[in-house]
Amino acid sequence: MTAEYKVQDDVAVITLNNPPVNGLGHSTRLGITNALEKANGDAAIKAIVLTGAGKAFSGGADIREFNSARATLEPTLGSVILALEHSPKPVVAAIHSVAMGGGLELALGCHYRIAAPGAKIALPEVKLGILPGAGGTVRLPRVLGVETALSMIGGGEAVNSEALAALPGQKLFDKLAASPEQLLSEAVAFAKEVAAKHADGSALPLVRNLPCTHPNGEAYFQFARNMVKGTVKHLPAPLKCLEAVENATRFSFEDALAKERSLFLGLMLTPESRALRHIFMAERAAAKIPDVGPEITPREVKTVAVIGAGTMGGGISMNFLNAGIPVTIVETKQEALDRGLATVRKNYEAQIKKGKLKQEVYEQRMALLTPTLNMDDIKDADLVIEAVFEEMGVKETVFKKLDAIAKPGAILASNTSTLDVDKIAAFTHRPQDVVGMHFFSPANVMRLLEVVRGAKTAKDVLATVMAIAKKIKKTAVVSGVCDGFIGNRMIEQYSRQAGFLLEEGATPQQVDKAIEKFGFAMGPFRMADLAGNDIGWAIRKRRSVEKPDIKYSKTADLLCELGRFGQKTGAGWYDYAPGKRDAIPSKLVEDMIEQHRKTLGITPRKIGEQEIVERLVYALVNEGARILQGGIASKASDIDVVYLTGYGFPFWRGGPMLCADQVGLFNVAATMKRFARNPHDDARFWEPAPLIQKLVAEGRTFNG
Ligand code: 3HC
Ligand code: NAI
Repeated sequence: MTAEYKVQDDVAVITLNNPPVNGLGHSTRLGITNALEKANGDAAIKAIVLTGAGKAFSGGADIREFNSARATLEPTLGSVILALEHSPKPVVAAIHSVAMGGGLELALGCHYRIAAPGAKIALPEVKLGILPGAGGTVRLPRVLGVETALSMIGGGEAVNSEALAALPGQKLFDKLAASPEQLLSEAVAFAKEVAAKHADGSALPLVRNLPCTHPNGEAYFQFARNMVKGTVKHLPAPLKCLEAVENATRFSFEDALAKERSLFLGLMLTPESRALRHIFMAERAAAKIPDVGPEITPREVKTVAVIGAGTMGGGISMNFLNAGIPVTIVETKQEALDRGLATVRKNYEAQIKKGKLKQEVYEQRMALLTPTLNMDDIKDADLVIEAVFEEMGVKETVFKKLDAIAKPGAILASNTSTLDVDKIAAFTHRPQDVVGMHFFSPANVMRLLEVVRGAKTAKDVLATVMAIAKKIKKTAVVSGVCDGFIGNRMIEQYSRQAGFLLEEGATPQQVDKAIEKFGFAMGPFRMADLAGNDIGWAIRKRRSVEKPDIKYSKTADLLCELGRFGQKTGAGWYDYAPGKRDAIPSKLVEDMIEQHRKTLGITPRKIGEQEIVERLVYALVNEGARILQGGIASKASDIDVVYLTGYGFPFWRGGPMLCADQVGLFNVAATMKRFARNPHDDARFWEPAPLIQKLVAEGRTFNG
């Protein structure tokens, strides 16, 4: 049982104990009802306290049970709440740290509630694409008022217990404890008090009996509905939250509760909710490396050194400064160092202007940054991150020097985006300390960090990098060593398809529009213009030597030969007015593509939006499957996390691999085979990856 039963004087204390956050899984629910029966069957017990062990009162329904039969096994959460309401002896919820979702709904079923200061109170279901399904939408408005409740239910954000306790007229908390430490003793004392009060047999208070009204309901809900429609796109849950709260004001408690349940069940089946729940689990799963368990102790990182103060070095440094970790940044020339520091300052000053950073915090952060031209100054750093030019020769010089000067046990990381981390490690006598830390640009903003595990990288180095990633608020995903790691290796296939689409008849704007409608913030051509077309050009030149048999469209090379590198040269796939970033379709580019088609002897055809989207997204999926099969990623959900946090994949679709699961791998494979028959495409690439074929044969999914 995951609910403990103890007796203090004449009060029964039921303690939820289902780590990590007392999720209300079946055994916990059963534990509560059994304990409740025991307390009510014991004549010596006068009142009951319901509390939580560890770091939460309760984080809500056990997310791990979703989509499983256990979620609906009796007693369901609704039945547990009914049992609490029907308890003849008063039940006091003692809330500390976290009361979220079903946890808060559970507390709302108790007769009284006492909270510790600093507890985070929320109905965050909307963030999982659902709504509270155990009475939250009908009970919270009764204790906090319709408007506060709707803002909590529709937004899902947590509010501090003190703030809620201070709301005039609130009936959520009967008492605020003096401190978290005193919560339990105060709750027991309060339970005795209310037991004495009801000793005369007077009715126990139930939230369901409180009124639920809004003085201008119709106008208020219309206004709120317009707001939600205007601000939330692609997600059905926020409007359903509103509908449920409105129901609470229009129907009897029981009817509104039944309607809430049916809305909840409906949302649970939506692809958007599946995607959001997948993301929640996937982000947490990404932090776990199959063979690096909690028994591996991370190394201590108190100081960091960054080598190179260019585009990446400055942003990388900012992450550590923001977390209060001192950084020494090294350059070869004073001008480069000054330029790098100026960029760091400019970034912080922009935050100050927007009111996001206080002057004194900025100064504290800058005081942690030591610029130097002398590599020897970093000899005591615990973690060194190299961000110099992307050339093996330069990396070799830097890593040989690091091997000579860095203290024993220092972690030597490279931010390389394409080079072989094992080769880099081999420049040192300590390859076990070498790892890739692939930040994304702008490094102070982008959440993704690809952690590249070399063949010899030590487990405690990986554990350290994962821990430090959390500290600097990055989402870390482990990748094996290969060209482009997880993210760029996949995006190369996506870009290749974008090029073939042009040759076959599409325009850059048609391709961009189709994939932007699918949900990407920017299509491949607008993105290439922003990043600089010359970067891909340089990579393709290198590839044409290393892997001459890769087929790709020459259109991007032709564009670069015209000097159209993108926004930085005022022209790329699109034209740009001076000082503006709006992409204007270019006649010159269209003519260039048309000419190229003639050279290839291709008669252009009309290509529909669906084909554009499928070719781009399934290119990611097929390469993703090969990455998974080759062990470069350890789970499909890691690939989704990379695409959601680093490449702007639409979050409500849950990432490319989940997207494929939702379409059905049989259908995805069939479409790939159709693409393989297109003479202008790469038939070898479109052969469905063996992993996909295996999953189809076994009736399974990537995330199944
Ligand atoms: N059920 C099961 N496990 C949960 C959980 C839940 N509701 N919430 C969090 N966890 C797990 C996480 O998966 C993670 O597990 P791991 O250690 O194995 O990776 C662990 O708890 C810690 O989670 P975090 O890393 O997120 O820890 P934090 O301390 O940063 O945050 C938290 C704790 C605030 C509780 C945060 O986890 C959170 O926001 N959880 C989601 C809460 C939520 O959405 N609840 C609603 C559930 S739906 C519901 O209740 C339906 C009902 O209306 C019927
Ligand atoms: P950059 O050219 O802007 O900066 C590199 C800096 O390193 C220059 O300021 C240079 O003076 C300095 N440098 C060169 N040799 C040095 C040495 N021996 N000691 C100290 N400093 C030295 O390059 P950028 O874009 O910052 O890239 C750095 C690394 O990050 C590369 O490996 C690149 O592939 C990788 N990367 C780049 C991304 C981007 O979007 N720019 C994204 C992710 C990774």
